[in-house]
Amino acid sequence: MASGDLAARAAELRDAINYHNERYHVLDSPEISDAEYDALVRELRSIEAEHPQLATPDSPTLAVGAAPSPLFAEVRHEIPMMSLDNAQSEAELRSWSERLLRLAPELELSTLAFSCEPKVDGVAMSLTYERGQFVRAATRGNGVVGEDVTANVATVASVPQAISRRSGPVPERLSVRGEIYMPTKEFAALNDRQLAAGAKVFANPRNSAAGSLRQKDPKITASRPLSFWAYQIGELDGASPEEGGGGATLRWAPESQSGALDQLRAAGFPVSPDARRVVGIDAVIARCHELEEHRHDLPYEIDGVVVKVDDLALHRRLGQTSRAPRWAIAFKFAPEELATRLLDIEVSIGRTGRATPFARLSPVFVGGSTVQLATLHNEDQVRAKDVRPGDMVLVHKAGDVIPEVVGPVLAHLDAPRRRRGRWRFPTLCPSCGGPLVRLPGESDTYCTNIDCPAQRVQRIVHFASRGAMDIEGLGEMRVVQLVGAGLIADPTDLYGLDAAPLVELEGMGPLSAANLLGAIDASKRQPLSRLLVALGIRHVGPTVARALAATFGSLEALRGASEDELAAVEGVGRIIADSVVKFLANPANRLVLDRLVAAGLTTTQARGGAAAPRGEETHRTLLGRSVVVTGTLSAYTREEAEAAIVARGGKSPGSVSRSTYALVVGEAPGAAKLTRAEALGIAILDESAFERLLATGELPSA
Ligand code: IVH
Repeated sequence: MASGDLAARAAELRDAINYHNERYHVLDSPEISDAEYDALVRELRSIEAEHPQLATPDSPTLAVGAAPSPLFAEVRHEIPMMSLDNAQSEAELRSWSERLLRLAPELELSTLAFSCEPKVDGVAMSLTYERGQFVRAATRGNGVVGEDVTANVATVASVPQAISRRSGPVPERLSVRGEIYMPTKEFAALNDRQLAAGAKVFANPRNSAAGSLRQKDPKITASRPLSFWAYQIGELDGASPEEGGGGATLRWAPESQSGALDQLRAAGFPVSPDARRVVGIDAVIARCHELEEHRHDLPYEIDGVVVKVDDLALHRRLGQTSRAPRWAIAFKFAPEELATRLLDIEVSIGRTGRATPFARLSPVFVGGSTVQLATLHNEDQVRAKDVRPGDMVLVHKAGDVIPEVVGPVLAHLDAPRRRRGRWRFPTLCPSCGGPLVRLPGESDTYCTNIDCPAQRVQRIVHFASRGAMDIEGLGEMRVVQLVGAGLIADPTDLYGLDAAPLVELEGMGPLSAANLLGAIDASKRQPLSRLLVALGIRHVGPTVARALAATFGSLEALRGASEDELAAVEGVGRIIADSVVKFLANPANRLVLDRLVAAGLTTTQARGGAAAPRGEETHRTLLGRSVVVTGTLSAYTREEAEAAIVARGGKSPGSVSRSTYALVVGEAPGAAKLTRAEALGIAILDESAFERLLATGELPSA
């Protein structure tokens, strides 16, 4: 780039960063994600580093946060509240640790101790105590001058009003630094309440914590579920503990960061139980990855890990740059929320006719994969979020959860946006052109035309899916093709397919046609319970289907059962029995069943099958327990195994943690889960032990 262009780019970046600083720090209404903001700062910083003549004294790269808001009195921090440099990758973390050696060459990175602390996503706070009593709370502001939010912070229950004297004599004056945050569950509940009251919905826990603190009326803050984690000792008797603070006792001038956390904990401050002292940079990296993998198992949101050299004497030697200490770094996780363009809102029709709005997005890489489509759930959700085609929207994808549109990035309604108007739910089915109907009191909208091609396709896709007849090679694209070519119209047609017309289809050769026919034929041998799932009877999932198949033993017997007999099966009950009876009484469904029987499908199953003894799902054998499944089991798909755990009151998260009760291991298990379970001494079960666990809740004796 020519130097004039670079100067212009630097100026543009400075403007953009200042603008986004204000949106974030003053207005609590960011328009871009943290990751995008960091990218702007990085670009500017690299231009300034390579072309020092382009650096300006007012550059936002030199400042921390934003100027204080006029709403609150100013507070000067005697020890500035600094920011942290970021590492976006393992390599950057390592190179930070290697830079430490330049200033302290005698250090050994393999034996150096670090404090690894979850980087809670909230609002940085400095709490001041005089003679043990809470007297002031201040935000970071620009790092030197913050805002006095004492009255608001005084309402936060986990902020101690007084320092506990059990931890020894209290210093004359002490400031404790930490983070005010909103736990994830409380955040969701608050947003539900806000939505119900027609009030502002917060984009994320950080914004809602910031918004709750920036209130003129502390009563509003008091009504918000805020918490506090302490992570640093700031001023001590007016001096820093690193300078050996005045008359304070030794306890308040610990030698290490981990010691400081212990002292804070002993004095009654909440300290994250997930902070760890580890030795060696490899252990730091392992801990960072561990926290990233488990970030959603924590009850609060974190966006990274703060890694600090543990030895406080080293902090003094390593010192700081103009904005950040050299002895600490923030390891930032890959983003789970990013902004992108909402290209259009469309409606998809499911097998039951439910019309679900979804967003077509300009592709973004978020939460570990590229997202182009995201659900918008239903009409009310689109209305509440007020997203309109053409908007920049925030897209969220946590772990392996379905991507979701959080809301429009622009909180203000600009003129072109108003012209575009609100999005309206279509009145006609995009597939069959029939009317879309929303019944009063329901949130879902339906296409009621049973012959709707989209519904047909989805019914067949469901029939062939993994948890049902498990027909390999028969995914949605293939079904659309077969229905489009007039070869099939319902699942029964699958069993009459010939090779000749299949080979004619695009992308289908003789081999793939033979494979598909082979897979269809093999599905005839699936047990009755699978067939019951495949039929798509409302409320009949794998667990209920197994209970029905095991009780009645054959499709014939099931078809002859009365509603009372059905309802008597443990785990079935009236609602499900009613749904099964209605399904079986419907002439169209009866015809489908007759044709499936004629095609030679398996319609019997051993009574009281061992895979799922009758009705055990009503016994809450796993209440409150967490059971992780890895690898392929023979009698259950992953979904079924998880459903079986949940039906017994347990949960089945995607990763092993200290709170895991057992790890169930099938064929080709995940190495990481296995190693971690072994390291933590968690019970490792094979499939038969899993079945015993489901039935009894007991682990095999060691
Ligand atoms: S230490 C000089 N420790 O992360 C030390 N910060 O830019 C500065 N944060 O807004 C902070 N958890 O509020 C530290 N355990 C932790 C933290 C933490 C969250 C926040 C902090 C600041 C940002 C760092």
